Amino acid sequence: YNYDEKYRPAFHFTPPYGWMNDPNGMVYYDGVFHLAYQYNPLGTRWQNMSWGHATSKDLVTWEHQPVALYPDTLGAIFSGSAVVDMHNTTGLQSGEEKTLLAYFTHAGPNGQVQSLAYSNDKGETWTKYEKNPILTHFEDDPDFRDPKVFWHADTERWVMVIARSLKKEMELYSSDNGIDWQYESSFGQGQGAQGGIWECPDLFEMAVEGEAGESRWVLICNLNPGGPSGGSAAQYFIGDFDGRVFTNHAEPSDIKWMDWGKDHYATVTWSDVPESDGRRLAIGWMSNWEYANDVPTKNFRSAMTVARELKLVTKGEELVLASYPVEELKKLRTEEISFDHIVVENEHVVDSLLNHNEGAYELTLALDASDSDVAGLTLFNNNGEVVDISISLSKGELYMDRTNSGLTDFNDRFKAVTFAPVEKKERYELRILVDKASVEIFEGKGSTVMTNIVFPTEPYNRLKFYTKGGNTIVQDFKIYRLN
Ligand code: FRU
Repeated sequence: YNYDEKYRPAFHFTPPYGWMNDPNGMVYYDGVFHLAYQYNPLGTRWQNMSWGHATSKDLVTWEHQPVALYPDTLGAIFSGSAVVDMHNTTGLQSGEEKTLLAYFTHAGPNGQVQSLAYSNDKGETWTKYEKNPILTHFEDDPDFRDPKVFWHADTERWVMVIARSLKKEMELYSSDNGIDWQYESSFGQGQGAQGGIWECPDLFEMAVEGEAGESRWVLICNLNPGGPSGGSAAQYFIGDFDGRVFTNHAEPSDIKWMDWGKDHYATVTWSDVPESDGRRLAIGWMSNWEYANDVPTKNFRSAMTVARELKLVTKGEELVLASYPVEELKKLRTEEISFDHIVVENEHVVDSLLNHNEGAYELTLALDASDSDVAGLTLFNNNGEVVDISISLSKGELYMDRTNSGLTDFNDRFKAVTFAPVEKKERYELRILVDKASVEIFEGKGSTVMTNIVFPTEPYNRLKFYTKGGNTIVQDFKIYRLN
């Protein structure tokens, strides 16, 4: 293992060695967050799909665990989820500890089927269920995968949401015992973004922030390709779920993105986070199927996003799913530099950006751009590599440009300027997480998010603010070194 290679992130999860894609089997049990992931333990390209496994007590520092599930005669181990069998509905519990259930797709020569594995030792070891598979595909449609299971309290039974990928539908199943499943309904035909196949769903209820007693159901539906800037992306729908059918509250043509960057995919949430915590917590794969196999790392490929807390908030007239770094991330802040008030008339260089930063830091600031047309900030290094972030007030858009960010030639889909619509307002609050190979922007407490990976030949160690068509004022600007 080589933990020190150049593009190994400082504060994002990566596999010790080998290829990684989707997060899988995310469950909380007895003080521990589990994170499994699509893993090739034998090489750095997609192959030999297994479930790698890691655990954390704080969602920020992770400990690698032995591989949880290896391929077998039924096929490779594709994506899926995990839950705690609180009421021992499966009858698989053997001791004092509750049984953890992992639902995953077996991808074999005759198509994709759903299987179960369980753990009676708090997720340390996993046993495949003796009578796998537990749910099979239709004869004519072998693309059937990524089961996400949850306990539906109102109907007192399990619900599974699963992708019928090529049909661009999510199917719902129910079960009393977690083993035998009945089909309930399908959602998808003509709904939302349809530019690619549908994968990795999630479905959960969330409170509406600021409206006591109000809640909605959110259906996450990952899509590849067809994202806002090309390739893979996560869309979502807001509506209702009665235990059988999901109903979208928006117009079918309405498209909602969780993240507007190119590198946020297969995002799903943790199961069984205790009510005393109360958060809906998500993590995504920080890459894109367009170029994931080609990125210039050596001993490993791909990182996860930081763990993010989801909230349903009002943005303008709309209800949106905001995602924001978990509070625990602040623990990593060490050295801090701050500036109260910078008036930018044309441009303003900040040379003191942690001069010897190791490429892992965080910026928080507010931009008052009400007198200007474009307000921006450019991260740059001594090799002339830049990541440019800007807001166009006249267009109402936020951009991140990585066309000249460092190594970009490994795949011709990599160079990109990503964009997101933002409301016109007096003050934009930005939080920007920079790691050795990524930039994540959270605007308005995560109501607009943009995640992009980058490969600078040396860290971006300087920063420039600029403005066009009038002055911009930078307020409460802070730079934190992240441990
Ligand atoms: C999404 C995906 C899933 C599948 C897995 C295979 O990135 O294609 O649909 O289960 O990757 O690794």
